[in-house]
Amino acid sequence: MPLPKAELHLHIEGTLEPELAFTLAARNGVELPFKDTEELRRAYLFEDLQSFLDLYYGLMAVLHTVRDFHDLADAYLARAAEQGVRHAEIFFDPQAHTARGVPIGTVIEGLGRALDASEERHGISTRLIMCFLRDESAESALATLESAKPYLNRITAVGLDSAEVGHPPSKFREVYEAAGALGLRKVAHAGEEGPPSYIHEALDVLGVERIDHGLRCVEDQELVARLVRERVPLTLCPLSNVRLRAIDTLEDHPLREMMDAGLLCTVNSDDPAYFGGYVGDTFHAVREALGLDEERLRELARNSFEASFLDDDEERRAGLLAEVAAYDFATELPE
Ligand code: HPA
Ligand code: ZN
Repeated sequence: MPLPKAELHLHIEGTLEPELAFTLAARNGVELPFKDTEELRRAYLFEDLQSFLDLYYGLMAVLHTVRDFHDLADAYLARAAEQGVRHAEIFFDPQAHTARGVPIGTVIEGLGRALDASEERHGISTRLIMCFLRDESAESALATLESAKPYLNRITAVGLDSAEVGHPPSKFREVYEAAGALGLRKVAHAGEEGPPSYIHEALDVLGVERIDHGLRCVEDQELVARLVRERVPLTLCPLSNVRLRAIDTLEDHPLREMMDAGLLCTVNSDDPAYFGGYVGDTFHAVREALGLDEERLRELARNSFEASFLDDDEERRAGLLAEVAAYDFATELPE
């Protein structure tokens, strides 16, 4: 049995595996600029965040119908369940779809159907986080929030993703204020490629409760002290950091030092179809590369539930935390 864990940093569009991309392309009559799945996989060599985003947005051309979004999310949940995920807080990028003429209602309805069935089908409770694309305008983010109003019962939080540098959190002050007034919770990507000052801004200007990535906080010791003091969770994605060249190798990842400093770290997969592994694979990889012992892995699992938005279901959180505390690593399947 794998270690029970929550996944808090997962872009549902980043779970589009090459096989499903070709299936959906055939179903929808979309021509992909790749001969087959192997040729597509060979394109997964990225220089930086932008070079990944170009392919990531391009492949979304295959997603059209409620059924497509359902199938995408259900496929992710099935794989996540195999790797011990018991709770998933899932990002989606509505503007990447509405810009192609796919209505936001189609996206949310499709994802929602898969998420509604998830606890029974896969044993995974879920929350949905709507992200704004930070390289689009603040007006576009406001219009996106407005268009999501009929579906707010399905949305727990707002987030901020896409090309970071040059698009500081403060650009989105107004839409975060409006989201807060609607009762939505707040997270934002900050400090992935952008400077530590973006992490300060996400906290001070947007009022976020978690920082997605936050890797570059290590460059600012006062910021680290603040994140420790305020117990701000970081949703780290080590395999993503290597693939997008934020760090050279997994052995160089500062996760262990960050945990030693008292930061509330979680480990996540970001875009598992593109970055070489789902969250269980990520746990295995950091364990090997950084030599994390069982208690460190247990701490990461505990952190994932503590940092989750399960505040509206404390009974489930307590049950999952008890499972983590009682987990016997001897029951883990051999790799
Ligand atoms: N960073 C920013 N935007 C994203 C990412 C990421 O790692 N994945 C999908 N959108
Ligand atoms: Zn991300």
